[in-house]
Amino acid sequence: MKIAIGSDHGGYDLKQELIPFIQGLGHELQDVGCHSRESVDYPVQASLVVEKIETGEVDRGILICGTGIGMSMAANRHRGIRAALCHEIFTARMSRAHNDANVLCMGARVIGSGLAKEMVREWLQTEFEGNRHYRRICMFSAEK
Ligand code: RB5
Repeated sequence: MKIAIGSDHGGYDLKQELIPFIQGLGHELQDVGCHSRESVDYPVQASLVVEKIETGEVDRGILICGTGIGMSMAANRHRGIRAALCHEIFTARMSRAHNDANVLCMGARVIGSGLAKEMVREWLQTEFEGNRHYRRICMFSAEK
């Protein structure tokens, strides 16, 4: 799968740790930044990731900031983006199974890297169940 990943300074260290992990799962990863712990504005990285989804350059995105809140708010401003803010494995899995989430948002100041890796693994391998869930996302998704 083709995936874009982005973070602000609050999510930088976790992003750097997730990059080799995701590549090790066999996915093609594009890192849109940020590229240091220097303070940046999270809507910039959120836009860079979701634009790659909108153009079809990647299949899904992962966004990390301090809490994940700003990233999820910014990403969900884009039509066709279904960004899920998750901090444990059950909601990460269900965001795929029931909501067809195409962006996973996490807060690096909320969870540790071990949990984040298992969430990402689960999120990347869980398929959308469709059927009644498809009807429901059609009710708010532009491209469905
Ligand atoms: C940056 O300090 C912090 O506000 C940001 O990483 C994020 O948590 C915003 O939602």
